Amino acid sequence: MPTRPYVIDEMISAKAIAARIEALCREIQAEFEGTNKLTVVGLLRGSFVFIADLVRELDLPIEVDFLEASSYGDGTESSREVRILKDLRGAIEGRDVLVVEDIVDTGHTLHHVSNLLLSREPARLKTIALLDKPSRREVDMKADWIGFEIPDEFVVGYGIDFAQRNRNLPFIGKVRFTS
Ligand code: IMP
Repeated sequence: MPTRPYVIDEMISAKAIAARIEALCREIQAEFEGTNKLTVVGLLRGSFVFIADLVRELDLPIEVDFLEASSYGDGTESSREVRILKDLRGAIEGRDVLVVEDIVDTGHTLHHVSNLLLSREPARLKTIALLDKPSRREVDMKADWIGFEIPDEFVVGYGIDFAQRNRNLPFIGKVRFTS
């Protein structure tokens, strides 16, 4: 539970997110056209809303799998050390893979997960992040597709939490502490 009082200011509306996902899916569709071996991998828990909207816009024969990596705990600072808390159920060797992340912040999580999945020898591995905070980057990592580039703000909503709260907001909002 968050320990300081805060309010949430809307940053990206539900409508803007939907429009952006539609455009991104046209590009993803073109990249993977003709595949019959695509696994879309959602990084839990923050990507659960994004992946749900994304896969419903994709007219491709896909499988869906999930992987959970450790993240912020209950604070607003990254721990930097990435641990796998839940691995994929399926094998990805020889398959096409699309990794779906909520936010690329320091870059450690996507970097670690990409290297782990690449070691399993997929045919192709691509990455997509709904949000990117390039000013916070600590490792050289850029997703192949990005929904929105945002400034260094702590955001919530559309699956993204602050100490497990606010995932169910339909929009992306920034956290503003009131004390
Ligand atoms: P990175 O490893 O620093 O790139 O962090 C990636 C993870 O940190 C994301 O998948 C989120 O779970 C979490 N994260 C980064 N920025 C925020 C934020 O602004 N709000 C909530 N979670 C965040």
